[in-house]
This record gives sequence, structure tokens and C-alpha cells, in this order.
Amino acid sequence: MNRRRIFSGIQPTGTLHLGNYLGAVQNWVALQNAGDAECIYCIVDYHAITIDYDLHHLASLTVDLARDLFACGLDPEISTVFVQSQVPEHTELAWVFQAACTSYGELQRMTQFKAKAEEQSFVSAGLFTYPALQAADILLYQATHVPVGEDQVQHLELAREISRRFNSRFGNTFPEVRPLLTAAPRIMSLRDPDKKMSKSSGEGHYLSLSATQEEMGKMIQRAVTDVGPLPDGSMGSGVKNLFDILQALDDRGIYDQLMAAYREGHLKYVDLKAAVADAVCRTVGSIQERRLSFSPERVQELLREGADRIRPQAEETMATVRERIGLADL
Ligand code: TYM
Repeated sequence: MNRRRIFSGIQPTGTLHLGNYLGAVQNWVALQNAGDAECIYCIVDYHAITIDYDLHHLASLTVDLARDLFACGLDPEISTVFVQSQVPEHTELAWVFQAACTSYGELQRMTQFKAKAEEQSFVSAGLFTYPALQAADILLYQATHVPVGEDQVQHLELAREISRRFNSRFGNTFPEVRPLLTAAPRIMSLRDPDKKMSKSSGEGHYLSLSATQEEMGKMIQRAVTDVGPLPDGSMGSGVKNLFDILQALDDRGIYDQLMAAYREGHLKYVDLKAAVADAVCRTVGSIQERRLSFSPERVQELLREGADRIRPQAEETMATVRERIGLADL
């Protein structure tokens, strides 16, 4: 049977936020539960060191993130969840891609590099070549489908180009990867809804999955909505963002009721915010509850098992790659 193979990654740069959950992780769980694909999910710590980071916290952030992922519903019996640096073939394949399959011009066009470079005082070469490591993550396991938020689509287009270039130069080896987007692929900042929700924008912009119910309620209450409809009559970005969040979490038909009220011109933003707060608190509350059932020790054990399970696939791909690119087999 030819099962779809799914791969995705996330950086251990701090607490999970609602954008990560609605743009990616919720879909990781849904794809796992659909049962028709092999699912591989990776915490990409080698990516996380391309920007300023605290070396004393990297290991604990990695374990905390894995704990959150399991709490969100990833099941280690079904999906493989592991840490990138536990499988050194990631960086080895990344080097091959950088050296022989990725052009300088392509990397220069990456919008995420430009945005991140502006936030760093030291712009490393690794930040620049980051998408080649991302392509290696995916292709090491011959993955075909990659569930991500919209901000990763450009990187995946480059991954397709890298695999095409490898195949035409060295022989058919890698599949073409495709992004899988959710209905909420771009959750916006609550404070500045024209920017995507991200931790790097700072407090007030993102809704952490570790926040208390009270904190979440307050942040949603304060979310910017007052920009009103745009001149062409379309919905303002703050209101649209709240509707997107509600639609992704609502299982009670409240989205439809409030959207009808909006269309008829009598929606009260307090009602929209109360519905969003209720939906967010219910979902995040149950994630936080499940989190307690995974001790950090157990999480580390699960991550080690994940890496042990997946490593042979990485070794096999790398052996093929070494041979195809003409390295000596000594
Ligand atoms: P990262 O760690 O920034 O984000 C993890 C996932 O969350 C999604 N996401 C969002 N989705 C919707 N709205 C938002 N505001 C939002 N913010 C983040 C991201 O799109 C992502 O899917 N380069 C990747 C990590 C990576 C990777 C990979 C992904 C490394 N190797 C291989 C896929 C395949 C990143 O920095 O994601």
C-alpha cells in the first residue's frame, strides 16, 4: 500500500501560541487521526540556533514543546515525534542541498530571511541557508505532504525546487513536496492584526497556550477590532482574525450565528470576543489538563524512542545520496 507520508517541524523557541496550533499542530493531530498516512513530526533545534537564543534554556524548551505537542493530541504510538539534532543526517543532507542544489539567488528571495535578519544584530550564514535544512528535514524521509501555516509556503516551494534539481542532476531520488494548509493558515496578532501572530512581536501580540484562562480572556477582550470595515466594505483585519479563530475552534454553530449578525449589521464586538474567549479557553484548558499527564522524564523517553525509530530511514536516504552524488565509498 502506498501511504502518504507526512512530515512537519516546529522550532523550540518558547511556548506554543494559538497561531502554531490553528495553523499547524491542530492539523498534525487531525492527519494522524485520519489514519491514512505515516506522520513524522520534528522539533527542529538546529533551526532554533540560527537566531539569538539562550543556550541554558534550549534543552528545556525542547522538552516543554514536546510535552505540549503530546498534550495537543499527538500520539507517540501512531506518530513519530523526535528532535532534529538526535538524527545527524539532517545537517548532512542540508549541506549537500546547500552545496549542490540551492542557489544564492533563491535564498536571497526568502521573505522570512529578510524579516528575521532585521530582528538580529548578528545575521548568521545559517539563518540564510535555513530553508536548505528545512528541505533536508522533509526529504530525508521522502515525505510528500507538509502541514504548515502560510508563512512556510515559500520555503516549501524552494524544497520542491531543491528536490527537482537533485533528481535531474543525480537521478530520481526525492518526491515533490506539497504544503497542506488549514482553514486558518495565517492567524494574526491580536494587537496589530495586519501582522501575523508571532512570539517575536512581543507580549500582547500572541496568545500563549500556557496562559491562564484569565489572561486569555483579557487578551481577547483587548484584541484590536475598532478599525471597522475597510473602504470597500470588506471586513476589517481584526474582526476577520477573531472570526477565523472562532471558526477553527467552534463546534457549536456560534460562528454561523455571529457571522449572520455581522452581515445584518448588528454584531456587537463584545459578543464576538466572548464567543472567541469561550472557544479558546475550552480548547486550551483541555490541552493544559492533558499536559499534566506527561512528566518531563516520560517525554524525554518518548523523544528518544521516536529518534531511534526514525533514524534507520534517515541513514538509508543518506547512504543513497552519498552514492548518487559521487562520494567515495571507502
Ligand atoms: P515555526 O516554528 O515558526 O512554526 C511552527 C508552525 O506554526 C505555523 N505558524 C502559524 N500558522 C498560522 N498563523 C500563524 N500566525 C503562525 N505562526 C506560526 C508555521 O507555519 C509552522 O507550520 N521553518 C519552520 C520549522 C520547520 C519545518 C521544517 C516545517 C523546520 N523544518 C520542515 C515544516 C517542514 C518554522 O520556523 O516554523
